[in-house]
Amino acid sequence: MKRRQFLTVSASSASAIFLTRCASGQSNARVERASCLLPRDALVERASCLLPQTWSSKDGLLDVSLGANYGPVSLAGQETNLLNYNGRVPGPLLEARPGDTVRIRFSNNLSQPTNLHYHGLHIPPTGTADNVFLKVPPGETWTYEFSIPKNHPAGTFWYHPHLHGLVAEQVFGGLAGLFVVRGELDEIPEIRSAKEEFLVLQDFELGSDRRIISPNHMERMTGREGSLIAVTGRVNPSLSVPAGGLLRLRLLNASPSRFYRLSLEEHPFYLIATDGGAVAEPLELQEILLTPGERADVLVRGDREPGQYRLLNLPYDRGGMMGGGMMGGGMMGGRRGRSSSQTLATLSYGDRLPAPLPLPEKLLPVEELPEPKMVRRFVFNHGMAPGMGMVFLINRQMFDHRRVDTSVELNSVEDWELTNNGVMDHPFHLHLNHFQVISRTGILPVTPKSDRSWKDTVLVKTGEVVRIRVPFRDFVGKTVYHCHILDHEDLGMMGILEIQS
Ligand code: C2O
Ligand code: CU
Ligand code: CU
Repeated sequence: MKRRQFLTVSASSASAIFLTRCASGQSNARVERASCLLPRDALVERASCLLPQTWSSKDGLLDVSLGANYGPVSLAGQETNLLNYNGRVPGPLLEARPGDTVRIRFSNNLSQPTNLHYHGLHIPPTGTADNVFLKVPPGETWTYEFSIPKNHPAGTFWYHPHLHGLVAEQVFGGLAGLFVVRGELDEIPEIRSAKEEFLVLQDFELGSDRRIISPNHMERMTGREGSLIAVTGRVNPSLSVPAGGLLRLRLLNASPSRFYRLSLEEHPFYLIATDGGAVAEPLELQEILLTPGERADVLVRGDREPGQYRLLNLPYDRGGMMGGGMMGGGMMGGRRGRSSSQTLATLSYGDRLPAPLPLPEKLLPVEELPEPKMVRRFVFNHGMAPGMGMVFLINRQMFDHRRVDTSVELNSVEDWELTNNGVMDHPFHLHLNHFQVISRTGILPVTPKSDRSWKDTVLVKTGEVVRIRVPFRDFVGKTVYHCHILDHEDLGMMGILEIQS
């Protein structure tokens, strides 16, 4: 039904006007197509087909103006009314290097308060840095300014609003963008020579007027999902790998609740980095489960018969309000399409490289953390609150901005044991410091569990216990941890962490 609406709208005059405007403007499409055909080398600055607008730091400074707006943007090639940063969904790609200063002159042009969170960056949680307690009222501006530590790992991070109670709505409306730190990993010769694409996975639910449809009560409980899946603003974009070459895909799940279980026909993924940066060596995976907030940085080898291969989103059941899918596929709010695969993008082959490009053998060592000083337990569940209906809880409590739930000491290392006693999966996310997954009981996850890597978001499936090890480094202050199904976070599944010296 949704599909039909979508086709009808694409033939309407609204989209024609948009296309005309696009063609008479900066002619992005031509530039993109041209760059798509080029293998990436040192001279082609960013041979990405999918993210034309990149703001990189110059002489140690990234200085940008970022506005949160509501209005028409191009989504899936059609004019759509969305929340957006600088007229784009996803927002512009921000790019900096370790040691750089970042200055973001932010203006809130929305009718609601909002703010910015820098998901995965290791920067102060206070002041003008990654301060999620800050509120920028409608019509006001705020200058974020911080520096990226000199020893910050290279990686794929992102920015999105983080005002408790409005996070799911604003992210579902379109507010999200990539923040890439370039560094050591990017200098590895094989990775440098790989062609690079940025795949920002977002889902939307649009009415025939091309506006977002708000979820109903049940959809909020389950976590809102939309039936339109956009990959960096497009539906089923084409990707190309040079024959004999490497394609680097930086994947981000920027959807409020939807999980993506990814596989690429006849091509394994070679994982080179997780949320917090490089792994020690490429890890071959047939599938990647990417839960909200997570990133995966993978290489794809162009070593098959040139042809077309689909990047698929395979079925996944993340649980529902009635427990264990009792209602059957697609009946429950917000769980459309979970029993069938969807095509997210299509890979084709470009010109053959003069000599095939090998995979890198080694990446960067991943530090082994010392035994923890302290083990803490966090239980994720839901309950009923008088007058509020269902609420989402950590250790039986709803989020309260006045309460510090967990105090830790700067420079200590702790193990956190995360237990999910509820009927739905919860991707747990910690701000500020990355962690390593130490162990996991319950059903085996699709993503690797035992290979050491740095994470900031980890899936805790229903019935599972996941143990993570976290070092608290460099910065003191208050920050948060929460479920990255953003409706669950807004409905209470968040706690405050205070790091003290
Ligand atoms: Cu990506 Cu606290 O969030
Ligand atoms: Cu975050
Ligand atoms: Cu959750």
